[in-house]
Amino acid sequence: MRIILLGAPGAGKGTQAQFLMGKFGIPQISTGDMLRAAIKAGTELGLEAKKIMDEGKLVSDELIIGLVKERIAQPDCENGFLLDGFPRTIPQADAMQEQGIKVDHVIEFDVADDVIVSRMAGRRVHPASGRVYHIEHNPPKVEGKDDITGEDLVVRPDDQEDTVRKRLAIYHEQTKPLVDYYRQQAEKGNCEYHKIDGTKPVEQVSEELGNLLD
Ligand code: AP5
Ligand code: ZN
Repeated sequence: MRIILLGAPGAGKGTQAQFLMGKFGIPQISTGDMLRAAIKAGTELGLEAKKIMDEGKLVSDELIIGLVKERIAQPDCENGFLLDGFPRTIPQADAMQEQGIKVDHVIEFDVADDVIVSRMAGRRVHPASGRVYHIEHNPPKVEGKDDITGEDLVVRPDDQEDTVRKRLAIYHEQTKPLVDYYRQQAEKGNCEYHKIDGTKPVEQVSEELGNLLD
């Protein structure tokens, strides 16, 4: 199964990707996590991406398309994958089509901007795995520690309120047009399009996703 998770920053893509990975046994391809790993490793790509990400802007289409193309060619993607944070612009979606990468489901997470701003303030992440928590809505078993490894959780550098607002503005300008893009694809019978209410509690969103993808 090939799935695109489409939604604003903080809409819950990474959280539900964790659930869907377990349920369907397909890997999560998070371009954000891949870029953060490159920053941590100090690669050239990481150096180039860091400043852009810290400012809440988008990394160039060219760079991202190359990264995803390489990742999708790996053997673990043979039976499907979850795209989290990609495509995020019309040129990225066009590049996927040109390369013949088809998807079965596009899932849009609907969450209002104000809800997102308050959610981001409580987000904590485990950088090595990409696991995501929220201090109130989805707390770890032990405060400040990852459930599986027990390692420290951190605050993402792009989660300060002014940066979140900038990321939201860019989402509306550059990523939201993908809603119409994929609705049209669905009308042509190329994929299924689902819009879900991302403001419900984490477990309810998971349940809804599980039902509609089963
Ligand atoms: P990326 O890492 O993709 O960030 P994003 O899209 O902005 O999305 P987030 O990871 O912030 O949110 P999410 O939807 O995964 O929400 P989460 O589940 O964590 O990208 C970062 C940067 O990398 C970009 O700004 C850009 O610079 C660059 N980049 C990445 N991809 C790119 C691309 N394709 N092209 C160009 N540049 C790219 O949830 C958020 C919080 O809410 C958590 O605390 C969670 O616990 C909580 N939560 C989740 N669901 C619920 C719920 N139902 N109820 C209550 N709380 C909830
Ligand atoms: Zn994410």
